[in-house]
Amino acid sequence: MTLTLTLPRPDDWHLHLRDGAVLKAVLPETARHFARAIIMPNLVPPVVSAADAAAYRDRILDALPEKMAFTPLMTLYLTEDSDPEDVTSAHASGLVTAVKLYPAGATTNSASGVRDFTRVRGVLEKMAEIGLPLCVHGEVTDAEIDIFDREAVFIDRVLDPLRRATPGLRVVMEHITTSDGVAYVKSAAENLGATITTHHLVINRNHILVGGIRPHYYCLPVAKREEHRLALREAATSGDPRFFLGTDSAPHTDPNKETACGCAGCFTATNTLSILAEVFEQDGALDRLAGFVSEHGPRFYGLPVNEDTITLSKGDPVTYPEKIDTGNGPITLFDPQMPLHWRVT
Ligand code: NCD
Ligand code: ZN
Repeated sequence: MTLTLTLPRPDDWHLHLRDGAVLKAVLPETARHFARAIIMPNLVPPVVSAADAAAYRDRILDALPEKMAFTPLMTLYLTEDSDPEDVTSAHASGLVTAVKLYPAGATTNSASGVRDFTRVRGVLEKMAEIGLPLCVHGEVTDAEIDIFDREAVFIDRVLDPLRRATPGLRVVMEHITTSDGVAYVKSAAENLGATITTHHLVINRNHILVGGIRPHYYCLPVAKREEHRLALREAATSGDPRFFLGTDSAPHTDPNKETACGCAGCFTATNTLSILAEVFEQDGALDRLAGFVSEHGPRFYGLPVNEDTITLSKGDPVTYPEKIDTGNGPITLFDPQMPLHWRVT
């Protein structure tokens, strides 16, 4: 029986750090275990220009506790007014690692996102040319499309046409939640990867709705039926390098979650690696955990795997705090509703 597991230090390829007091509180939760993370730009106002990204990166580095090492990989929020030249120079200077596409209105702070995809054609073509990846929130926003179908419809109506129109573009389908997403990634010849969150490997839609409405399991894309969760588990634990970890750890304070119209997002930074080790062990795939958390992401992004390592060890169940405190109020940690036996030592 494996009791310890040493992996190259993991990275998180989709993370929300927010700003101000929340940034200060959540950043150490990620930096404790992860070397790098792709930082989501959906602040208010969003991180649109290279100057915004440079200023946000400085605020992140200022908030990092002295003894911790962490590299924020910055992204730009794509709008219909994004300037191809600004995007190009932000990439050339090494400031940004990806550009993020939010369909307008799809999720938290996405109002400045894209409505008319023809208006971002120039930027996407430039990105294909310079090899800058596009991270995609893959849900349509049409009122008549059922929320549980929005990812599958997005693939057909938006993503596939967009990829065909811009053949060299490298695309990450972020936080996929369906077997349709898994199948689409597998069917693509090249240039397509997908992140999978920790929570979507653990919960299905019953966790949100059965026995009372549970706001801390509500995130976007919303968790789907059990068959979809199983497809995600299969993809994550398969060793296929097109699938890698993006936690989408998305902190919102409790008053903003536990209310009549609660925000979407699960906060998983603190216990993600314990949960993933448990999940991979349950599926007989502990030997593939390193691929998912440490190797496949850098390979997609053309970055080196971290030289540093972390060690997980198995023992009595580990407990984590129910909440973390921030200067803006408490944030509830994702509860996987199962004992966790692996801790990062
Ligand atoms: C994210 C957030 O809160 O910023 N919420 C979420 O449910 N995942 C936005 C996002 O990634 O969709
Ligand atoms: Zn997100």
